[in-house]
Amino acid sequence: MTFTIAIAGKGGVGKTTFAALSVRYLSESLKDVVLAVDADPNSNLGAKLETEPGRTLGDIREELLRKGDEIPKDMSKQEYLDYQIRLAVKEGKGFDLLTMGRQEGPGCYCYVNNMLRTFLDALSTRYATVVIDNEAGMEHLSRRTTRSPDVLFVVCDRSKASQDAAKRIAALADEMGIKARRKAIVFSMLDPDSKGPPAESVDGFDVAYGIRSSGAIMSMSSKTESVMEIPRTDPAFSDIVKAVESERKASLKR
Ligand SMILES: Nc1ncnc2c1ncn2[C@@H]1O[C@H](COP(=O)(O)OP(=O)(O)OP(=O)(O)O)[C@@H](O)[C@H]1O
Ligand SMILES: [Mg+2]
Repeated sequence: MTFTIAIAGKGGVGKTTFAALSVRYLSESLKDVVLAVDADPNSNLGAKLETEPGRTLGDIREELLRKGDEIPKDMSKQEYLDYQIRLAVKEGKGFDLLTMGRQEGPGCYCYVNNMLRTFLDALSTRYATVVIDNEAGMEHLSRRTTRSPDVLFVVCDRSKASQDAAKRIAALADEMGIKARRKAIVFSMLDPDSKGPPAESVDGFDVAYGIRSSGAIMSMSSKTESVMEIPRTDPAFSDIVKAVESERKASLKR
């Protein structure tokens, strides 16, 4: 069974940092290749993981629509798409990175999107662990990627606006048919001396986690996007590990 986590939330709250450190932790601790999916058209999960993104699925989709019947005669469109995506998956240190790229423009994409979904569903089953970083906001929660994560982490900061947005995202996920087994609210950028999330339970969520603010992440981000050098003892990293590990253990009991 694949353990899938998806990360969502308002802009700039620390989603991609959470995703990248989860990928790093899961690949290092499980000693297995994690599939990291960057579902934000403004892709930067690769930068945080020090991996140059490959061609995006958006590019491949556009190419397929443009080429139409020009694809090699001895291949079905699905085979061609599968082949192209396989080439687009970039190998990183303990993970494979798949970058979704831009969303579709106007036009009929249903056919290609269905093929994409078929491929992504099949691809995901080949990994024991999948981490999906989403675009900010809620209308963008990616239906294109795995539709039923084990846990949807919705990240927010201490502001009321951000927490309200988190609640709306959780509600919208249900409406969109994203069947997250569990939903977790993640309070990010907490005071360094805080002992946990500011609220133990929040309507619409199964659990709450807290991530402390990290001086190392803050100061390193002025030089590099990468989180690969953040020490394991970093308070934010250890809080992320705690949240991910607790959800992984919960998934094993199911
Ligand atoms: N726990 C933390 N402590 C200190 N700084 C943090 C922490 N988490 C993230 N940051 C910093 O906050 C900024 C935004 O983080 P990040 O890119 O992860 O947010 P995001 O929610 O993915 O943003 P976007 O909505 O633009 O995709 C970055 O500069 C990052 O280094
Ligand atoms: Mg991001």
